[in-house]
Amino acid sequence: MQNRVYLDNAATTPLDREVLEAMLPYMTDFFGNPSSIHSHGREVRAAIDKARKQVAGYLNASPSEIFFTSGGTEADNCAIFSSIHTLGVTRAITSKIEHHAVLHTLEQLAKDGKIRLDFVALDEKGRTNLAHLEELLSSGEKTLVSLMHGNNEIGNLNNLEAIGALCRANNALFHTDTVQTMGHYPIDVQANQVDFLVGAAHKFHGPKGVGFLYINSRIKINPLIHGGSQERNMRGGTENVYGIIGLAKALEIAYSDLESHKNHVTSIKAYMIERLKERFQDLAFNGDSDNLEDSLYTVLNVSLPESEDNDMLLFNLDIAKIACSGGSACSSGSGVGSHVLAAIGADGNRGNVRFSFSKYTTKGEIDYTVEKLAALFPIESH
Ligand SMILES: Cc1ncc(COP(=O)(O)O)c(C=O)c1O
Repeated sequence: MQNRVYLDNAATTPLDREVLEAMLPYMTDFFGNPSSIHSHGREVRAAIDKARKQVAGYLNASPSEIFFTSGGTEADNCAIFSSIHTLGVTRAITSKIEHHAVLHTLEQLAKDGKIRLDFVALDEKGRTNLAHLEELLSSGEKTLVSLMHGNNEIGNLNNLEAIGALCRANNALFHTDTVQTMGHYPIDVQANQVDFLVGAAHKFHGPKGVGFLYINSRIKINPLIHGGSQERNMRGGTENVYGIIGLAKALEIAYSDLESHKNHVTSIKAYMIERLKERFQDLAFNGDSDNLEDSLYTVLNVSLPESEDNDMLLFNLDIAKIACSGGSACSSGSGVGSHVLAAIGADGNRGNVRFSFSKYTTKGEIDYTVEKLAALFPIESH
């Protein structure tokens, strides 16, 4: 019997067993509250400090610049709110294809009259127009630029180094959501002149409900969450200890084998492109996702032919035991179309499906998926 095929790794990834092993003792033996001064507390505090040091090391950051959060959404919100509340930002620049954790936050702040919001121009592939960004930045207003590293729906990659340099040259703050690229690409916060950067463990085989915010030490802001003195007074609340341990372990595994995972996943993506081209005459790819050199290697956003049954496409694939998505996980299933595909002018009548891969994906799973897809388009495919 065919096992279920999981091609929705941009939504979340399965927990690595090794990560679970690292977490388990912190659910049982090491149960102390890290704020307690006795030995139970101290041993857990030491483990959190080690995890923070490890995360900082992978990013070329200092441990004092890493703040653990409940995930990507909280970290994005905190970066945006704190720059507006405590750093005098009156204007933000973002793009129409950001994740809703960024877009909805900025739109609400603009609606509340706290900031003016500008959108950088994108080309038809969703690529950021850096000349337009430079033009927008020349206004001299105190500005926050929020542009993601890898897009979760169409896999486009932004050039962090170029954006960081433009922001610094124009005295703007730079926030980047690296939720999709963390653990998949080397990231250097200093080389990229980043002020705020965000990661979430569940996108790199870590646990859900834990992430982090990097805040450049040149920036001094008020607490993200008021309460106890946890996270050096920045985020009150007893720490998600086993989550933090799991996050650091997952990142350790990801960065210890970055090249081989990258090569494996890239070969899976290339294979799927080839197999789809063999089976479909009328086939396109949304955004930059079929660009094997310069797009997120975990994401392939496929534009399949028009069909009356396209409304049922994800459902039919699910029945065939294939899990994928019609856009970001946050909107799939809600009946709301993808704001990313709308922003790049993708044809909504076509069957737009996001397949996203991990180190566990096999070519056999791709063969099975392409055959099932072809069976759903009997006239078109050959
Ligand atoms: C690019 C991006 N940013 C932020 C998030 C939200 O992260 P979390 O689920 O950890 O809150 C996601 C999750 O889908 C994402 O893909």
